Order: sequence, then structure tokens, then C-alpha cells
Amino acid sequence: MRVEEISVWISDARTAFDGAIDLDALKIVRLAHTGDKSPISLASRALGGMAPEDKASFGKLIGDAKAAIASALAGATAALEAERDRKVLLEEVVDVTLPVQRAHRGGLHPISIIRNEVTDFFIEQGFSVEEGPELESGWLNFDALNMPADHPARTMQDTFFIEPVESGMVLRTHTSPVQIRTMLTQTPPIYIICPGRTFRADELDATHSPVFHQVEGLVVDKGITMAHLKGTLDNFARHMFGPGVTTRLRPSFFPFTEPSAEVDIFFNNRWIEWGGCGMVNPMVLATCGIDTDLYSGFAFGMGLERTLMVRHGITDMHDIVEGDLRFTRQFGVGL
Ligand code: PHE
Repeated sequence: MRVEEISVWISDARTAFDGAIDLDALKIVRLAHTGDKSPISLASRALGGMAPEDKASFGKLIGDAKAAIASALAGATAALEAERDRKVLLEEVVDVTLPVQRAHRGGLHPISIIRNEVTDFFIEQGFSVEEGPELESGWLNFDALNMPADHPARTMQDTFFIEPVESGMVLRTHTSPVQIRTMLTQTPPIYIICPGRTFRADELDATHSPVFHQVEGLVVDKGITMAHLKGTLDNFARHMFGPGVTTRLRPSFFPFTEPSAEVDIFFNNRWIEWGGCGMVNPMVLATCGIDTDLYSGFAFGMGLERTLMVRHGITDMHDIVEGDLRFTRQFGVGL
């Protein structure tokens, strides 16, 4: 063992460590220069067999050499670890400015939104919500509402009759049968709102749909007058269309109300027809077993599609029934 050899081991180790391109490569050269079979380890073991006078001086040299190699190794390790960390940070960097693919949450159809607006408004005033079947008996849909058998609304043009025709069943043409059902089963005072799907044999076009939605209101109590009807409609219209909106009643005819009127609203600087209304015809109250000397009532009915179209300036019914998300999203469907 010669002194010069020892300094070569040190410089060889340094060169190898510094030449390692990554931590894996360093691991391999580390074994060669510090492992059991490395020259420095072998020399260290050989110390035992040396003469005592050599042992001390070589022992110090080898100790210093080991320290030098260890420090070279530590330096190379630190440099390669820093390099690895830098690369990881670069590779894993996230570009928060990239556009993302958003998952769309579901949402309510505008018709459901407006139905909830209507029912919430009336529930706040103490009304309850009543629902009935869409497949309805002709008696409840027509006769009980004072629509005799020869009434035009009963012809095949307007009504979906259910086979066999003798069953007398129809797809309800309005939500008024729900009022009859309620008056037959409850005693006044009655304050109800009836939202629901209704059906008429119309072609789907810009303003008609064979399946549409109505909401009807019915009040039966002592001393109910047209003033109550007008006040209720005014509040309802303001809630749906804005605080400045007024209503106008135009004389009209429905078999189940007497007198009857069309409700118009003054909206966007013009009068627009909104729905029908009137004082419940005493014949209808009597059919339902209500004492007409004690009680009177009013009723009104609106189409939800029409309400939505007027309020939002929608000109084509197709937009409401077709379910195109580009349309429904404009009404706050969650994204
Ligand atoms: N049921 C009527 C219709 O469908 C609307 C209406 C309801 C009119 C209540 C007056 C009173 O046309």
C-alpha cells in the first residue's frame, strides 16, 4: 500500500461521484468506491496485519481518505437530490389557467321553476296545493263543471278520449277537475292552488302544445266577492311579472264560473291575455254539495307555458318542450 495510491482512490471516487448523472447511477458507483470490495475498505481491513509502526501512520491516512470520500459522496448526493426535486416540481406543475371540462349538475326545467314560484307564493298566503290524476273521468272534467254533453270543448277536436270510449275517461283538458275533487271531499273554507299537466288535441306549433301545464286557484268561503278575486290576481300578477304590473278583467264565458272574465296584464306597455277567471258558478258549488246560501267562491286558471313565454319573451313553444340545454340553462339550470 502506497501513499500515492490512496490519493488516487480519493480522486477516482470524486470523479465517479461527480460523473453520476442521477441518484441511481450514484448508487452504483458508490458501491464501487465505498462498498466492502472497494480499495479503501480492503486497505482498511489490511491495517490489522500491519506492523505497529506502520499501522498508526497508514491508519490516519486511510481515516482521512475515508472522510474525504464520504464528503465527496455527500456533496454529489445533495447535488443530485436537488436536481431531482427541481425536475419533479417542473414536471408536476399545474397550469391553473387551462380551460376545464365542467361537469354539469342537473337542474329544474323552467316550467318546474315557474310552478314552484306560483305554489310558493300561494302557500305563503295560506293556500294548500292539491293534485289530481291526469287520466280523469269525463264527469269530473266536464259534467260537474257545468259543461253539458253538447259543449264544444267535449268534441273530438279538443279532448283526448280514452278507449274504450264508453269508459268515459279522458286525459284532463284542464286542472279544474281537481277543484271538483277537492270540493267533494273537503268542506269550506277552501283555499287551494292546483298545478298540473293538461292535455288537448292540438298540434305542437309556436303557441300550442298537446301537453301543457295549468295552475288553477279556487277559494270557497263566506262572503267571497269579485273584489277578492281581483285583489288576489293583482298580487299574483305583481309577484310573477314585477311590482308595476296591473290586471284587467274582460267579460268572458266559462260554464263553471258566473260571471266569468279573461285576466289581462299590463306588461311591457301593452295588455296581454294571461288566463281565465270568475265567480264559481253556484250550479257547480251545488253539484259538490256546498250550501250556496252560505258560501261563494272564485276561481282562476293560467297556462304555465304562456306565463313563461310572456314573462321571458319566448316566441316559440318548441323551446319549452324540446329540452335543449342551451335554452334551459338561461333559466339558471345549475352548471
Ligand atoms: N279551466 C279553464 C280553462 O282551462 C280556465 C279557468 C279556470 C277559467 C278557472 C275560469 C276559472 O280554460
